[in-house]
Amino acid sequence: MKFKTNSEAETSAFGRFLGEQLRRPVTILLEGDLGAGKSVIARALARGLGVPEDIPITSPTFTLMNHYSARIELYHFDLYRLADAEELIEIGFDDFAHSEGVALVEWPERLPDREFDHLLVQIDRLSADCREVEVRACGFETQGLLDRLQKWLVTQ
Ligand SMILES: Nc1ncnc2c1ncn2[C@@H]1O[C@H](COP(=O)(O)OP(=O)(O)OP(=O)(O)O)[C@@H](O)[C@H]1O
Ligand SMILES: [Mg+2]
Repeated sequence: MKFKTNSEAETSAFGRFLGEQLRRPVTILLEGDLGAGKSVIARALARGLGVPEDIPITSPTFTLMNHYSARIELYHFDLYRLADAEELIEIGFDDFAHSEGVALVEWPERLPDREFDHLLVQIDRLSADCREVEVRACGFETQGLLDRLQKWLVTQ
């Protein structure tokens, strides 16, 4: 599925809906260049998942991972500064990405492989305020989620 947004608020609305829809553990990869809007989606998704408004959601730029308690545990990764695959093991990526929680990953381009079920969200910056967002279910487990996102899109 593919759609365009014309403001940060529109991209946020998608992220929040996605967060609200999550019922079980899932890995979500957020692809896009610097400033594409990955963190915009991550913040909104966290709220949709139930992270209280008074808990700030900051990018784990240096820590690589932030953990939040919500309806489902949320592990927010930003792998931009990942040095190598060994560091990925050190931060326990595999444990979190295949756990009872939601793993949300900025800069998944740094991952050595994607041999796991995931929802792929690709954001393209078309202009200062316009983004193209493409969402794909990569694996069987995320297909139902994609179906619900598609139904939501037609009501927008
Ligand atoms: N339609 C839009 N959707 C999302 N963000 C938008 C949109 N239009 C403008 N913006 C702006 O683009 C920027 C997106 O920044 P954000 O931090 O989410 O990017 P990022 O993909 O996480 O980048 P980085 O890789 O540097 O972390 C914000 O400043 C936001 O206000
Ligand atoms: Mg970011």
